[in-house]
Amino acid sequence: MIARQSVEQVIDAAPIEEVVGQYLSLKKRGTNYIGLCPFHDEKTPSFNVNPARGIYKCFGCGKGGNSVQFVMELDQVSFVEAVRKLANRYGIDLIETGQPELEELQEEQKQRESLYAVLNFAAGWFEQQLHDSEAGRNIGLAYFRERGLEVSTMRHWKLGFAPDQWNAMLHAAEKASYNKEFLETASLVKKSESGKWFDMFRNRVIFPVYSVSGRVVAFGGRVMGKAEGQPKYINSAESPVYHKSDHLFGLFQAKTSVKKKDKVYLTEGYTDVITLFQAGIDNVVASSGTSLTDSQIRLIRRFTPNVTVLYDGDAAGIKASLRGIDLMLREDLNVRVVRFPDGEDPDSLCRKLGPVEFSAFLEVNEQNFILFKAKLLFDGAGNDPLLRADAIRDILQSLSLIRDSIKRTELVRQLADVSGQAADQLLYELNRLVRNVHKEDQKQANNTLELMAAQTATDLKTITFDDVHQEQGLLRLVIRHGQLQQTEDLKLWQMVAQELHQGGPQEFTDPTCARAFSHLNHLFAEGAPLDPNYFISGSDHELAAFAADALSRDYVLSDHWAKHEIAVITEESNVFHEFLGVFTHLRRKKLDLILHDILAKFEQMTPESPLEEEASLMDYYQYTQSLRNELVKQSGPVVTAYPDTRVVHKRI
Ligand code: CTP
Ligand code: MN
Repeated sequence: MIARQSVEQVIDAAPIEEVVGQYLSLKKRGTNYIGLCPFHDEKTPSFNVNPARGIYKCFGCGKGGNSVQFVMELDQVSFVEAVRKLANRYGIDLIETGQPELEELQEEQKQRESLYAVLNFAAGWFEQQLHDSEAGRNIGLAYFRERGLEVSTMRHWKLGFAPDQWNAMLHAAEKASYNKEFLETASLVKKSESGKWFDMFRNRVIFPVYSVSGRVVAFGGRVMGKAEGQPKYINSAESPVYHKSDHLFGLFQAKTSVKKKDKVYLTEGYTDVITLFQAGIDNVVASSGTSLTDSQIRLIRRFTPNVTVLYDGDAAGIKASLRGIDLMLREDLNVRVVRFPDGEDPDSLCRKLGPVEFSAFLEVNEQNFILFKAKLLFDGAGNDPLLRADAIRDILQSLSLIRDSIKRTELVRQLADVSGQAADQLLYELNRLVRNVHKEDQKQANNTLELMAAQTATDLKTITFDDVHQEQGLLRLVIRHGQLQQTEDLKLWQMVAQELHQGGPQEFTDPTCARAFSHLNHLFAEGAPLDPNYFISGSDHELAAFAADALSRDYVLSDHWAKHEIAVITEESNVFHEFLGVFTHLRRKKLDLILHDILAKFEQMTPESPLEEEASLMDYYQYTQSLRNELVKQSGPVVTAYPDTRVVHKRI
């Protein structure tokens, strides 16, 4: 088991915006960040990250939690694994106590863990073969060299070599006591009909495939020499840790750059990615020869909306991929394309031109997808009016998938130029298509809106209820920092009492708080000191228990404030601000009560009531309202810290 303090240390050390930012692209909004929720499909961002409180929350699907929970959800790992991951990333040594953690892991997670272990071992072994074995150096390394790769690049991608032997890998793995069963699940070995086990990858150079978070989950192996009757590439089969359609080759290595440059180059092959990377173009991924899937597109969109597709030259290939591009348009990606000369792919052209010229080539040849498609189809249609009409319809269909109407209209203008059709006519036709396409989306959007409205309604209910927490938060503040000297002649507890006193009679909901504050008021009125041990060792047992709890926990902020976009200052950062925050809240609550009372009185008035009374009530209302406005303006909404029970009571 991992010690509780270690877990807390990890949560402290891992900034939530950074942890989340590893997986999706976030935009700053005020003190928070927003982005597209990775847990459900959405077009407008409702995923909120609050760095001050170390939490995330999606207003669309309701998922929320801290950095550990985020990693658990997104990487589909156990609590313990998530903590380990973060600890690893942030260089924290975990303190282990008690039971071995495997007892805790469920069967399935154990299996996943074992698969990762086997895959990791295999990657290491293949890499070692490439660099340290004679065959590896003579065949594999020589091959990569000939393709222009430097050793540092090979190391970076952990490229490897599988020797031309039936079970070299199997023997090595068994020697290192890896279970055959897992090797088989990871499709590293196979059993022949005659019952003999053999290696899947033989006489091939190896490209490890990483998950977005950087674990080896699969391999691609490219055949060496003449591959008679053999496929050029063999790839790992699906396994519990590898679902081909959810992966993009190179994304783990590219993601930081993709986010920074706000753009990704999409290629087809392993070698395209690696060669471009070596040439300094590091925001590049590959779909590994298959047509794009929805989940791959969603994966891209987590990091950037700008995709530039790098195709090799032949028109057949391009036509086959047009559908994939439509999928991207539908997901609101900005799609551009670069068409390559016949017979060249990004890898070969990059080697031919060199990094500088190649980058220039990309820049010059990058074009908007719609215009690219228009040109492609018009070229195919020649002068045949019917074919041209088909082409136009086809392009309009793609255009109708773009949600941004300004973008759409602009593109129609450009299409009008290319096609020689009147822009108005095209626009008319386009709008007809758009209405059809978006009927379905609209339905979905309405549902989301309803959900959000319902959520807000519940939130508003919670905030009233949470006033108890405010009282408790204030008391906790006094218990923890009451003796702090805040001004020349007032300690924190005295300031609290003074403020409470000025606020008139107090209504506390929580009886323990009521008793504690009445005692403080009493002492303050008499000018007596507060015994530092009063809370913890007094005769009031409930208060003592509350105090013990308050003193022993580290406070994490509860998450309901974020829902209202209220800025939160942590306890550590400034006790005085906390104190002000609590009072702002209490005063405002009081003013709200007063306003409420005045309105009630208004309602009770009859036509016979004296005019002056009505006028003075009106004045009173306006005055109170202005006080309230002032209060909000001065301090802004600030709230205090509570213990986060979700963190503390987690099974640790
Ligand atoms: N691919 C595959 N299986 C094949 C052929 C291709 O999985 N039999 C995938 C690989 O991911 C490959 C990509 O499709 O990287 C693109 O294929 P291709 O252009 O044929 O390969 P290159 O990567 O260009 O390889 P090379 O330059 O070494 O021929
Ligand atoms: Mn190639």
